[in-house]
Amino acid sequence: MDRKRKHLIRLGAGVAAGLGAAAIAWTGIAANAEPVDTKGDFEAQIIGGGDVAEGQYPWLVGLGSPGEGTAYERQFCGGTVIAEDVVLTAAHCVEESAAADLVVFSGAIDLESEDVVETAVADLHVAEDYNDPIAMANDWALLKLAEPVDVEPIALGTEVEEFDALETAGWGDTGEGFPTTAQWVEVPFVSDADCEAAYPDEVDAASMLCAGDLENGGVDSCQGDSGGPIMSPAGEDQVLVGIVSWGYGCAEAGNPGVYGEVAEFDETIEAVLAGWE
Ligand code: ARG
Repeated sequence: MDRKRKHLIRLGAGVAAGLGAAAIAWTGIAANAEPVDTKGDFEAQIIGGGDVAEGQYPWLVGLGSPGEGTAYERQFCGGTVIAEDVVLTAAHCVEESAAADLVVFSGAIDLESEDVVETAVADLHVAEDYNDPIAMANDWALLKLAEPVDVEPIALGTEVEEFDALETAGWGDTGEGFPTTAQWVEVPFVSDADCEAAYPDEVDAASMLCAGDLENGGVDSCQGDSGGPIMSPAGEDQVLVGIVSWGYGCAEAGNPGVYGEVAEFDETIEAVLAGWE
């Protein structure tokens, strides 16, 4: 399973490079990231969402590989700016990488835009307890940027809370391919008990939280969104509640999206940041 997961993180780049649907079908845990049509005529985006407006989530960034090509062609995961020179992402996005293998794209929600700012990564911290106590537990990593980005950071969630609905965003699969403009969608919160029932023995309720429309499906994050944010609903003090991590397929009824639960490791994150100052 872990070997297959590793491929997921390259999927965004792979598809942009023209591998297309065959690559999607080959990605292991989310093997069936096929267009998900639950309600007939909904428009598939992130899955089931719409374009992020410029400025809607200033802290949303793309994570990619350095080199030639547009940001769109090199992006493979999402990330969230939590300090002027620090990005929080998923451990599974970067566990095989060195800092020099990574760049961050900020400044525009359209990855083909000339306004995209590319920033090198100077240092990398992968959660020491990633995959402990079970696979995908504590799926978080921090990127120290080579220079600050001109982006408003989002505050970390510090309390384990129940919500009605959350918002997630990224450049991942919409069910109809990979968008150049980031997509966002509102997703119902799923309780630990319901999530454990959906995925017996695969949920570490302490470090994971779940969201999705259990009954109908249709809204979710998907391949390529990993590492990006799930946030409390828009408002004055929107906080980062989680990190896109995994799911079976995308937007399937009964199979919610699973997210790293920031309030479980916010203090560990702060300690790493303090060590970087
Ligand atoms: N692991 C995927 C990635 O690397 C994210 C999958 C999220 N899946 C879901 N059904 N919410 O991009």
